[in-house]
Amino acid sequence: MITRRLFLANASALFAAAGARAPLWALSARGISDSSVPSVMLLGVDYYPDQTPETLWEEDARMIAETGFTNVRVAEFAWSLMEPSEAKFDFAWLHRAVVTLQKHGIQVILGTPSAAPPPWLTAKYPDILMVNDQGMTVSPGGRRFTCPTNKVYRRLSLDIATEMARSFADTPGVIGWQIDNEFTLQRWGRCYCKFCRAGFQDWLRIKYGTLDEINSKWGTAFWSQVYTDFTQIPVPLPSNGDPNPGLALDYDRYQSYANASFLEEQLAILRKTCPKHFVTTNNVGAPLDTIDLHEMYKNLDFVCHDNYPGFAQMFIPGGSPDAVATMISLGHDSMRGVKDGKPFMIMEEQSGKAGQSFFSPPPRKGQIRLWTYQAIAHGAMGLNYFRWDTANFGAEEYWHGMLNHDRSKSPSFDEIQQTVKELKTLGQEMLQSSYVSNAALFFDLNSAWATVIQPGNTKLTFASQLTAWYASIASTHIGIDVIQPESDLSRYKAVFAPLPYVVSPQEAANIRKFVQTGGLFVGGFRLGVKDENSQIVRTPLPGLLRDVMGATVKDYMPIYTEKIGVNFSSLLAGPDADCSLWADILQPSSASVLATYTAGPYSGEPAITMNSFGHGKAVYLGADLDPASLARVFAALLESVTIKSSFDVPRGVEVCTRKSGPKEWTFLLNHTGATQAVTVPGPFKDLLTGATHTGKVGLDAYEVRVLQPA
Ligand code: GLA
Ligand code: ZN
Repeated sequence: MITRRLFLANASALFAAAGARAPLWALSARGISDSSVPSVMLLGVDYYPDQTPETLWEEDARMIAETGFTNVRVAEFAWSLMEPSEAKFDFAWLHRAVVTLQKHGIQVILGTPSAAPPPWLTAKYPDILMVNDQGMTVSPGGRRFTCPTNKVYRRLSLDIATEMARSFADTPGVIGWQIDNEFTLQRWGRCYCKFCRAGFQDWLRIKYGTLDEINSKWGTAFWSQVYTDFTQIPVPLPSNGDPNPGLALDYDRYQSYANASFLEEQLAILRKTCPKHFVTTNNVGAPLDTIDLHEMYKNLDFVCHDNYPGFAQMFIPGGSPDAVATMISLGHDSMRGVKDGKPFMIMEEQSGKAGQSFFSPPPRKGQIRLWTYQAIAHGAMGLNYFRWDTANFGAEEYWHGMLNHDRSKSPSFDEIQQTVKELKTLGQEMLQSSYVSNAALFFDLNSAWATVIQPGNTKLTFASQLTAWYASIASTHIGIDVIQPESDLSRYKAVFAPLPYVVSPQEAANIRKFVQTGGLFVGGFRLGVKDENSQIVRTPLPGLLRDVMGATVKDYMPIYTEKIGVNFSSLLAGPDADCSLWADILQPSSASVLATYTAGPYSGEPAITMNSFGHGKAVYLGADLDPASLARVFAALLESVTIKSSFDVPRGVEVCTRKSGPKEWTFLLNHTGATQAVTVPGPFKDLLTGATHTGKVGLDAYEVRVLQPA
């Protein structure tokens, strides 16, 4: 029997032997499924035949092909057209659309439509509706309004996915699947209904076995919460008092599991019915995603995400080019980390003004090309632009695609066409390369979730700490992997852990081994406060890592109105910093003091310490430093272990490198609207212009260069 893996491995050879051109995916999957690399780039656009008169499909397919695209994604929101009434399926229209696209050489990624069930379904089965964190049943009429546990919703989602899979398994041109659409964004991924409550109780039975174990791990003696039957266990809905932190953290884990297992049901049927096709799903990346994507993508072929810098422009206070660029790079790096650095795909890339009820600032000339290269620079192997045309109706009328409302070409159309052409000339080898990173940043979901449950300071969020630490490391241009604390750390010289509130024994052991064997570990304030059940440890802080850090937390204080500064010594010498939201006051045992507080009740006491442990060093950053100081401190610490970029880069410009064997591709990305210059270390060939550069390389506003050592 030919397994799927074997098929993918041999597909191109088989096609070649038969004298046929290998389908795009057969080529590209060969690498990805085996953890190496794609050999053909997936370049396409998200297309909505379900929202477009059939008379226009032919013209669309021709234009999509002329633009240089090789694929489209379709149908992820077309449930009501594919199953107009219960168990009456109609895929004829979609087959006609696929045939039309295929005629023009465009291959198709199909979306299963479970993110938006049709009105007949919610009318007949109102129980499938999500209950939000205020206990209110969410109304149909939007999307993602469903309960991930509900059996009826699961059965009906599986039915349509099964029928779709059967109908398209052998359809020429179909290459893969996107299951559902954006499982979670912020808190939307959480449901608190009675089915989730029962599902949670079942999940707890498996996780803990006995009620005694739960009562002890959660500490239910507090507020008279000792459970004597699993069915008594509630979900964290409003209860005139905060929930038990252990219960609330487990509920986050349960919701993550519920979404992942919902996906797995569809995945199993797609694997069985469509063994030739790839299967993935799209999400949005840190700091926004709130479910465990490692769990969700475990059995999928590759990671996909959606990239909208326009949203970052709208919602980041100040919206500076650096801040927006950094937020986007963090998203890419976190998604690349989900499958351990393997190339990922952008399933939706902004192609015009972003918007639902508001418009984002219009992308400036060059910015869409820049954002495209930014994704490639961070490890993308392919990318679909969102969307082909602009809807004249529905909640996303404001979301500009490549065609305007009147079907004229959008201001970005030619830029995208040009970009697609360029990307093809850069060649497959570049897409097979890996992102070069010299440091790792922990994105620890347990700490993230536990900090949402108990922020400690009203203004403190894990997302903003993660982003601030990422931005500070990113400003050194050394390349960052965003990973989980349990990952293999042996490939890094430096590892950073922002707001590491929850530390499990395994994580502590991993960090200890990393430092012992020569690594530099930088841990932020609130290190090791909690165990994995969200109980505060009974030892002095930082709990399990006290010996590694060589310091104890003498006291800790949230900061609201006090003006507290931080004064640095030798290694970190520089201007005093502001300490804003938090101060851990440190008492070194074996560590040396790198900075002290300048005011407040602990004026003169240690704020930052560094300890030699085994062959490595462990730095405790007790203070919440202002961004400029944080960047300076991180640069100094990295330099102390000889990590330094050899490029001299102005603010607002990003430098990333991908590498394959001896070959390197370095991307210079100017995120600012002004001319900039980067000083490069030696002669480089510009792969886009053919020129050779040495010394200062100029970049116009939003310009991109792809360089290779000459
Ligand atoms: C998300 C979704 C798309 C669309 C875009 C624009 O990424 O996946 O369906 O809604 O955002 O809002
Ligand atoms: Zn539910």
